Amino acid sequence: MTCQTSDELQSIINEVHSLAEEGKVADYIPALAKANKQDLAVTIYKSNNECLYAGSYTKKFTLQSISKVLVLALALQDRGIDYVFKRVGMEPTGDPFNSISKLETSIPSKPLNPMINAGALAVTNMIKGESLHEKWARILNFVQCLSKKNLTYDIEVANSELETAWLNRSLCYFMKQHQVITGDVEELMMLYTKQCAIEMDCFDLARIGAVFALNGMDPETGERLLPIQIARICKTFMVTCGMYNASGEFAIKVGIPAKSGVSGGILAVVPDQYGIGVFGPSLDEKGNSIAGIKLLEELAKRFDFSIF
Ligand code: DON
Repeated sequence: MTCQTSDELQSIINEVHSLAEEGKVADYIPALAKANKQDLAVTIYKSNNECLYAGSYTKKFTLQSISKVLVLALALQDRGIDYVFKRVGMEPTGDPFNSISKLETSIPSKPLNPMINAGALAVTNMIKGESLHEKWARILNFVQCLSKKNLTYDIEVANSELETAWLNRSLCYFMKQHQVITGDVEELMMLYTKQCAIEMDCFDLARIGAVFALNGMDPETGERLLPIQIARICKTFMVTCGMYNASGEFAIKVGIPAKSGVSGGILAVVPDQYGIGVFGPSLDEKGNSIAGIKLLEELAKRFDFSIF
């Protein structure tokens, strides 16, 4: 593995950086409001184990919604495809990530996809384990296998979300009423807020992206970390729902599987070639990194990334 800073990536960062002024950091999870709006970083992990980076790439951030795609991969392994999609749909919503409205109008009453909060909460509820502790250990261990790194979670961010996540609790109680989820809602909230608070940097994110780019293979050892079919399902959701109600525009302008989080991270995948980690906590009105998206747009133009 060789890593080096890249002048070309730095020049793209310099070009798009001013956009950060136009967005704002997430504050509905109070601890996230402490992020520095000016941070912007990118790491590209190539399938031949070379890596390039630029910007504030050593900064750590929490996964937030990026965890949804990883926990989906684990749930699919734990329960199988039929079990998972009996409880969560496969369709994009066109609604914001935390919207409750379609839960009531969809028949049967299940969340439309695993990338919106309702769907992700239902998926986290499927993770196997005898106790909350065991489920958490399995999630963390799985993410560590993909990143090949010992990771921890940001307790302050997890607690801050746990203390304020009334809307997510509402989604859970609605789904419990309709038998989409089972068990204790507070326990589920503890598990979900911890998964969202797993902390990493752009390099770790890019490395995970490389595993998806290689359809589930470890880029360094060639070991299979995920079945091909599961890697494909995850990448497909990233294309159709990964940037929420901005997924259509992102598919046209960038054209690769990607998943964003409100901490400002974006996990992106150029199939067979690269995993990309982006961090820029200043967000647009849909909850995606405003400069991070522009950075990916510029990269896609220069290197012809689009899969379409
Ligand atoms: O559940 C939430 O609201 C957060 N933990 C994650 C949401 C999120 O990252 C949406 N992303 N853009």
